[in-house]
Parts: sequence; C-alpha cells; structure tokens
Amino acid sequence: MTTWKVPLYRPTLGRAETDAVTEVMHSGWLSTGPTTRRFEEEFAAAAGVEDGVAVSNGTAALHLAFLALGVGPGDEVVLPSLSFVSAAAMVTLCGATPVFADITGEDDLAVDPADVAARITPRTRAVVAMHYGGHAADLPALTRLARRHGLALVEDSAHAPATRSEHGVLGTVGDIGCYSFFATKNLAMGEGGLVVARDTALRERIRRLRSHALSVSAQERHRGGPSVYDVEGFGLNYRPSELACAIGLAQLHALPARQHHRQGIVQRYRAELAELRGLLIPYATRPLEHSAHHLFPVLLPAGCDRPRLQERLAAAGVQSGVHYPPSHLFTAYRDRFGCRAGDLPVTEGVTARQLSLPLYADMTDDDVDLVVSAVRDAWLEVA
Ligand SMILES: Cc1ncc(COP(=O)(O)O)c(C=O)c1O
Repeated sequence: MTTWKVPLYRPTLGRAETDAVTEVMHSGWLSTGPTTRRFEEEFAAAAGVEDGVAVSNGTAALHLAFLALGVGPGDEVVLPSLSFVSAAAMVTLCGATPVFADITGEDDLAVDPADVAARITPRTRAVVAMHYGGHAADLPALTRLARRHGLALVEDSAHAPATRSEHGVLGTVGDIGCYSFFATKNLAMGEGGLVVARDTALRERIRRLRSHALSVSAQERHRGGPSVYDVEGFGLNYRPSELACAIGLAQLHALPARQHHRQGIVQRYRAELAELRGLLIPYATRPLEHSAHHLFPVLLPAGCDRPRLQERLAAAGVQSGVHYPPSHLFTAYRDRFGCRAGDLPVTEGVTARQLSLPLYADMTDDDVDLVVSAVRDAWLEVA
C-alpha cells in the first residue's frame, strides 16, 4: 500500500469518537437502538427537518427511496451519469430503467435541468439530483420541473451532509434526501447513511422497509414490547449498528468546525492554483459557505495527459482521483441499456479532464503547500 504524504481523503477521528464507541460497547446493545435514534434526531435537527431514518449505507438509502416511491418495472428515472454509480444501480435493481442526463457545464457539474426535461417521458417516475462535490444542483429548476410533470425529486446528497446552500439545506428540498456516511465522506462512520422525507407516511414506509417490514422492531421486543410481530411488506435489513451511529454523533457535533476548515483549504486552493494557465476550477465563484466541499475538482486542458500528471503528483506523495468515470459508459449500462459514447457530450468532455485534489478536514497548511507545489511542478512538465 502506498504511503501518501497527502492522501485524497482521510477521516478525522478523535477522542470523542473513541469514547462514544466504548460507551456503546458497554451498553449491551449493538444493533439499531437508542444511539441510532439520537443520531437520527440530531441529524434531522441539524438539517432542519422533522425526522430521519438512519441506514447501513448511502446505497441502502437510495434503494429504500426508490422502493418507497414504488419505482418498478416499466418506470424510468432520470439521473446524472456524472456521479457514483449507486443511484443508477438501485434504479436498475428495482426493475426500472436509469435514463442518464447531461450536466450543466464546466462550472456546474450537476445535472442540467434542461437536459432532464428533454428526457422526460410518460414512463418517468422520478428525477435524481446529485450535489456534486457538496455544491448545490439547480434545485429551484429541478423542483419546478418535477412538480410540472408530477415526478418525485430524490436528492443524492452523499457529498453534502446537513449543508446550508443558497437553495436550502441540501437533501431536504426534494421529496426524499439520501446521505452517505462512508469512510471518505465529510461525516464518516465507516459505513452509514440516512434518509429524510418531508412526507411522514413516506418516511415511515422507509423506516419499516429498513428492517424486514416488521410491525415490531427487535429493539421494541428487547424493551419488553410485544414478542410477536407481523410482516407488513417486503423489506430488507438496512439497519445501521449502534457503533457506527456513535461515531456519527461525534462526527455530527464536530461537523460545523470541520466544514469551516474545509472552506479555508478551498479558499487557498482557489487563490494559489488560479495562476495555472489552462486549469479550470469549477464552482470557483460560488460563495464558500454554501458548499460542503466534499471534493476539490479541477478540469485539465483538453488533451492533457491526466495519468502522467497523476504519476507526477504521486511521485511527490500526493494522491489524486477521478470523480467519476461516467456511469453510462460502464460495460453493464452499455450492455443492458444500449448507452454509447457521444450520448452525453458535456459529461464525457468533463470526465475526460476532471481531477480531484486532496481535501479533508485535518489538512494542514503544510499539506496544502505540498499539494500546490506538486501541482505547479507537474503542470510545468505535463500541461
Ligand atoms: C454521490 C454518491 N452517491 C451514493 C453513494 C453511495 O454511498 P455508500 O458508499 O455509502 O453506499 C456515494 C458514495 O459512496 C456517492 O458518492
């Protein structure tokens, strides 16, 4: 395993996380229970919504969202190809068809409402907006579109936990919001996720589906509730563990300070990389405080040798990444849905040139210096 001087991401874990996990270990209850409930309540309060349903990961959150909306065979869901493949896979596993839409442009890597509109058919059931890198997608336009066509708007807010944007708190504007607390995320539990839904009935359906659609949960039985349960649907086991939610609570309490630190790093990157000729920094003119800054993406000039640039950065101890290969060009999606190169010109143009630089909450000024000088040196040679 390579030892990076500056990795692409690193979770920030301290004494609060260790103490919280130890407490749960001594509590006698490890699966979904009181700590999970506290996490749900506190996350919901931070996001300004009534309640939330914690789940085992972000993919589970998306799966439950589509199941609860009744997405199934014959349905279509319009979503970005420039995303992690999770939402497209869950739509497919529900028996529906993912319909990929293009992104807005080089300065806004989220799905383009005009292109979404062009792909709506009588079969469309839902639209997915993903807040790329923690920056808000065009929620006002997508909300109007969804309302006009009677569609559900699902926010894939994996990059933006409880983030106040110019369009409201990300994940809480659409009908359902899905969060991921994977090890690399701004709020990291190792594995974890959460779903919010304004409609109480929808939210409670998601809560039941999370645990086999049982009428009485294992925890309720443990507390002396009815020992016989009924099964009211066809559910899954997407329950989070108490250990993960204990870490999540500590992470949630530290989130505002850590988000603030991320803003400082992005501010320095924006200022210090601006001079590199041909380097484009998406979202550079948006106010810092409106994003979760999960990623720091840059766009290289057309024809730039990205692998070579990444090699040069790696030689300096700096990890970099690509977010993301376009989903529509993965073998599975070409084979099943006939997707082809050329379907989404803006997405394909951007994904060939995109590079993510290190960004995490305990990056020091020295770490940023090292990344900036490594990029400058590599630029002289490669760009
Ligand atoms: C945009 C996006 N959606 C969904 C997911 C899926 O989350 P998880 O890995 O927790 O299943 C991720 C992260 O991995 C993601 O980045």
